[in-house]
Amino acid sequence: MVKTGPMTDAQPSADRRLAAQALAANDPTGWFEPLYAEAAAGTSVVPWDRDAPNPLLVEWLRTAAVPQGARAMVIGCGYGTDAEFVASRGIRTTAFDISPTAIRGARARFPHSPVTYKVADLLDPPPSWRHAFDLVIESITVQSLPPEVRSLAITGIRGLLAPDATLLVIADISKTPATHGPPWPLTRADIDSFTAPDLTPVRIETVPRPDASGLHRWRAEFHRPRQATH
Ligand SMILES: C[S@@+](CC[C@H](N)C(=O)[O-])C[C@H]1O[C@@H](n2cnc3c(N)ncnc32)[C@H](O)[C@@H]1O
Repeated sequence: MVKTGPMTDAQPSADRRLAAQALAANDPTGWFEPLYAEAAAGTSVVPWDRDAPNPLLVEWLRTAAVPQGARAMVIGCGYGTDAEFVASRGIRTTAFDISPTAIRGARARFPHSPVTYKVADLLDPPPSWRHAFDLVIESITVQSLPPEVRSLAITGIRGLLAPDATLLVIADISKTPATHGPPWPLTRADIDSFTAPDLTPVRIETVPRPDASGLHRWRAEFHRPRQATH
């Protein structure tokens, strides 16, 4: 179930209120930890929190050919629902979030989890993660960052991919460059900007959301060639 926070015309949702403060302070990621902290204190809700894994990920993974022994990375994992799903398919899974409170929440929700949960920043990932993962899942984290840091975020994502790795990107759709976020949904050009000499698009599609009637999302799969040199 998608949880929604209180929102009236007079009162912005907690994510928008905290994001406005952080962006005014020139800190594009500075609102996530306060939001999770408010949620932990019971004064706000995390609007993207779900009890069930992302259905577009579930559907994709059903037919994806994931090699035996593959190492997966789930970006911006929040409370870990998607990471737990990936791990439940027998895939060695690491997941990270910039918010320590979110990672504490994931560990508390799934105390016997096989997932390795870490606090880390996609905009400055740990060097030991460079080209270390065979499957990388990015679901609506890039769009939660303002456009000014989008290319840095995408560079961070590309850097996680091992040779022969697969990247799955799920994002909301915008026809024109989004200006007022969060979120800042992605245009086709934004999706195309994941492509690089060392990252090839495999399938880019817009798919209906089973969890939100009438809405669609990007679901884009990319492949890093075996001989990539970057
Ligand atoms: C919109 S939520 C998406 C959560 C989840 N991936 C999903 O599909 O529901 C974005 C998540 O990414 C995390 N995040 C934002 N910027 C990040 C960064 N630079 N590095 C790591 N995590 C980040 C946030 O704390 C938040 O949990």
